[in-house]
Amino acid sequence: MTEERPVEELLAEVEARAKQCVACPLAHTRTNVVFGEGNPRAPLVLVGEGPGEQEDATGRPFVGRAGALLDKALREAGMARRHVYICNIVKCRAYVIENGRARNRPPTAEEIQACSTWLDAQLTIIKPLVIVCLGGPAASTLIHKNFKIMQDRGKWFSNRYAPAVIAALHPAYILRQAGEAYEKAYRSLVDDLIAARERVKELRRLQEEAKPILPEGEEQLRLF
Ligand code: URA
Repeated sequence: MTEERPVEELLAEVEARAKQCVACPLAHTRTNVVFGEGNPRAPLVLVGEGPGEQEDATGRPFVGRAGALLDKALREAGMARRHVYICNIVKCRAYVIENGRARNRPPTAEEIQACSTWLDAQLTIIKPLVIVCLGGPAASTLIHKNFKIMQDRGKWFSNRYAPAVIAALHPAYILRQAGEAYEKAYRSLVDDLIAARERVKELRRLQEEAKPILPEGEEQLRLF
């Protein structure tokens, strides 16, 4: 029988390898690989697009303005970072230099593909019950490639990593809205996080119900 190793240990091993990654050109311009963080035993994983300036500087996901908004939405949905695991589809910052300043850009299909090794390993180890894709690129990567974020956010899907996958508006997109559009977009993020939390509860209940109730000592009988 193979010995099961703790998820923390498995994830740390993958993170150490990811930190050495040179599979795409983003490796040459990054300050830090932003692997992901949170509770590796969390039933809920949030997946964003990729690190921005602050994330690149600190090596931590969602620590800039978008991260602050995500924290607020999580709180309103009754959760905190310690309840979830947060990562991105690409682990290194993608940017262009414009007028002497670095501006974030969406990762290319090649960069997403090159980084899929790490996302695949993370999700395979964590085995979440529910994944929330934050924004279109994460949804196109983890749900299906023609995903339309405005049309399909808030709907349930499944993939090979989790029985329940939902997409929500990206906090950075919400920050670019104003007035009523901002309120509506922010509300939809909170609602999708609440739906994700409820779905975890429901799936946990189903898991509990599916457990066979065997009298003590009879466990071995199941082998025959
Ligand atoms: N936006 C993302 O998609 N991910 C981060 O980690 C930060 C901002």
